[in-house]
Amino acid sequence: MDNYVTGSVIRRLREGKRMTQEALAQKLFVSSKAVSKWETGQGFPDISLLEPLAGALGISVIELLSGENISNRNLSSNMTKSRFYVCPVCGNVIRAVGEAVISCCGITLPPQEAEPADEAHPIRLDVVEDEYYVTLDHPMTKDHYISFLAAVSDNGVQFVKLYPEGAAEARFKIDRVKTIYAYCNRHGLFWKKR
Ligand SMILES: [Fe+2]
Repeated sequence: MDNYVTGSVIRRLREGKRMTQEALAQKLFVSSKAVSKWETGQGFPDISLLEPLAGALGISVIELLSGENISNRNLSSNMTKSRFYVCPVCGNVIRAVGEAVISCCGITLPPQEAEPADEAHPIRLDVVEDEYYVTLDHPMTKDHYISFLAAVSDNGVQFVKLYPEGAAEARFKIDRVKTIYAYCNRHGLFWKKR
């Protein structure tokens, strides 16, 4: 994981803006040789240049540092595009409705790529009155367990944190739920459509 802006990111963003090294250099009052050095990994822009550099490239400093370009359109209709970010150090779980640069414990977290529930992570859905009773036949030991279950609908997310030695189960209001997610600390995120 990069901790500082990298040359390839500067180049990609600059070229995306159809800007020459010379044009970028002029905006920052540096030489085009300096820009060339940053882009080829022979030098770093001074920290005082980060803000103007991000501005010239049309992104935020955090995007520049992470190398991620965030572009969200019409977030209001995107609840079902929820993304989950899980910190491998402290176990923190963060949910975003759209794309974001999320960091925890000093690490930039990638969004979890969900896979369909598999044989080792069978998500079982039973309807009990107006709720889904969700269970998984999965270990719940300290080293290997389901650490959360979530039910995503078009208007919100129901989230239940689970713990080792507990049961891999949760109840969710059926109301408009489209997808159930289960996160295994070893194997990642799994989904099942209702
Ligand atoms: Fe697992």
